[in-house]
Amino acid sequence: MFDGFANIWTPVIQARRLGRRPVRQVVAGEPIVLFRGEGGRIGALLDRCPHRGAALSLGRVGRDGCLACPFHGWRFDTDGANQRVPLNPDAKRDQLSATAFPVRQIGDLVWLYTAPGATAPVEPQVPDGLWTDGLSRAYVERDWRCHWTRAMENMLDSPHLPFVHRRTIGRTLRQRMTPVSRMDIDWEDTPFGGRARATLDGAGNAATLEFWRPNVMALHIPIPGRHLRIHALVLPTEAGRTRLTVVGSRDFARGRLLDPWFARMNALIADEDKAVVESSGETEIPPPGEERSVATDRATLQFRRYYHADLRRTAA
Ligand code: FES
Ligand SMILES: [Fe+2]
Repeated sequence: MFDGFANIWTPVIQARRLGRRPVRQVVAGEPIVLFRGEGGRIGALLDRCPHRGAALSLGRVGRDGCLACPFHGWRFDTDGANQRVPLNPDAKRDQLSATAFPVRQIGDLVWLYTAPGATAPVEPQVPDGLWTDGLSRAYVERDWRCHWTRAMENMLDSPHLPFVHRRTIGRTLRQRMTPVSRMDIDWEDTPFGGRARATLDGAGNAATLEFWRPNVMALHIPIPGRHLRIHALVLPTEAGRTRLTVVGSRDFARGRLLDPWFARMNALIADEDKAVVESSGETEIPPPGEERSVATDRATLQFRRYYHADLRRTAA
């Protein structure tokens, strides 16, 4: 299951999308149904009934908080336990469970652990901009036709800013750049992944880019005394498809009416990346050494090493 993406925590959906109505979300090729059961508890089950394989997401959540399969009405709670098999009072329900996955709501997002079971061996590591109280957060979602690793490394790539984003976040860099300019990328390993800082001709703008394994980027934009961050959550869905969620967090200009403005800015930047990233194709990033690389590829090479040496192996 979850080829190349197993045994990890990943954000999958905004919690506000989940109510009684079940929602289907494909994660790394596996169909998952998410719903709220008893007491608002979130359940995540394989969207395939253990009986005859029908999609549970076509079913309904009843007053008992169970999700009823649309085909023969078997009822599953948020742990996947079978609570009723209609017309079969003697059925051994404990052997007729749905496949459940560990889930957590952290801040506005639902995180899923990509291995079946009731418990996960570790808890998710989440950048504080995604959960701290007192911040406003604006969300943008996009579906890209690419392998998720191409989208992820684009988020860790500073030297593309003055080219792809010449009119937006790369504008200042482009103005400062000369034909003999040099960019240095400083990389530091951290418990959650790594931290990169880019400087142009020795002068940094001090923006810090964090990589949170396996698929989250947090960009800290330096404004003295203020919190302003852009997060990119990169989710593999169907083969060769990626759901990108951009989350801006801020502690100023907090009126809700301003959320759409912040969201539009992030959408503009994400849409600038789309064509370039999609043009790389739908296959995964190659191991380091297979494409030509230069000094400014330091952060993306770190991601390639992690992906091929670590994630692909533990997530087989
Ligand atoms: S297929 Fe789900 S109850 Fe029969
Ligand atoms: Fe970009």
